[in-house]
Amino acid sequence: MKKTVVVFCVVLAAALSLVVLSGCATSATTAGEADDSYSKADLKTGGLLYDKWQKVRGIDTAGSHPLYPETGKKKGDTTFRCKECHGWDYIGKEGRYSKGSHYTGIKGLYDSRTKSPEALYSALTDTGARHDFSLYLADESDIWALVKFIRDGQIDIKSALGPDGKATGSVSRGKTLFNSNCSSCHGEDGNALDFKGKKNGVQGVGWLANDNPQETLHKIRWGHPGSSMPSAVVDRGLSDSETVDILTYASTL
Ligand code: HEC
Ligand code: HEC
Repeated sequence: MKKTVVVFCVVLAAALSLVVLSGCATSATTAGEADDSYSKADLKTGGLLYDKWQKVRGIDTAGSHPLYPETGKKKGDTTFRCKECHGWDYIGKEGRYSKGSHYTGIKGLYDSRTKSPEALYSALTDTGARHDFSLYLADESDIWALVKFIRDGQIDIKSALGPDGKATGSVSRGKTLFNSNCSSCHGEDGNALDFKGKKNGVQGVGWLANDNPQETLHKIRWGHPGSSMPSAVVDRGLSDSETVDILTYASTL
């Protein structure tokens, strides 16, 4: 009798520890899968998707984004772009889009960079919040790429640009970097490619750097969707401050 109880207890203990172990194993796999998807996520793709994911993936959207405010001045395609609601400068209503035709009153994502990959992933796939981008970006690696961009790709705009809105880097370092990383396509004067083709002169790198330094810095760092332009951060391995140096020189062109 005693022996039976002991055997029973040993079996029970073994069964319990199996349950406990398998319970641990299951949750470890789930967390591990997220970790793995996150560690494989492509930062450059994230930066380009933030700019204009429809262009990167060849997707057409209908109407305006359900979260775009009715009082906002934009409509259609552009209202689906991350930058349209959260800003080129990543500080939304606190920054360049605090007023004017791009105003939405929506916050930026710079302060969200410290949130966990899982929390950011759910913010981007949460149907309840009408902010579910997996409706359009079917491949979940694109969502993870955006998560990686939010965590590792954003630059502190307040150190990149001074209170006067001018880039704070070094013109001379920027010149060397521009001539080795940009001029082969954009020309030494930055005007070999005309972005908008308006009649008042060529609108090249110098023009955009002055007109919209926040957008120009994002393009320098990640490239331009649908073009051959490299990412200075990923393809050229430049540091944050070197990308600001390029912007600083570009604004003298
Ligand atoms: C039409 C406007 C709009 C667009 C487009 C948009 N968002 Fe948002 N997003 C919001 C709003 C509104 C919130 C909620 C902000 C709040 O809590 O105040 C939000 C919240 C978020 C959050 C959660 C932030 C946090 O700290 O909790 C993340 C992450 C985010 N957006 C990323 C993105 C990304 C990446 C894209 C592009 C794929 C994008 N958003 C496109 C409006 C938009
Ligand atoms: C391999 C060629 C190539 C290189 C190198 C390159 N770019 Fe570009 N860049 C392009 C192309 C192509 C476009 C798209 C032009 C268009 O849409 O008319 C572009 C677009 C841009 C834009 C945005 C234009 C817009 O319409 O918004 C900026 C700003 C820019 N480049 C700056 C730079 C800077 C600064 C560098 C160096 C860090 C650089 N580029 C390196 C090819 C290049």
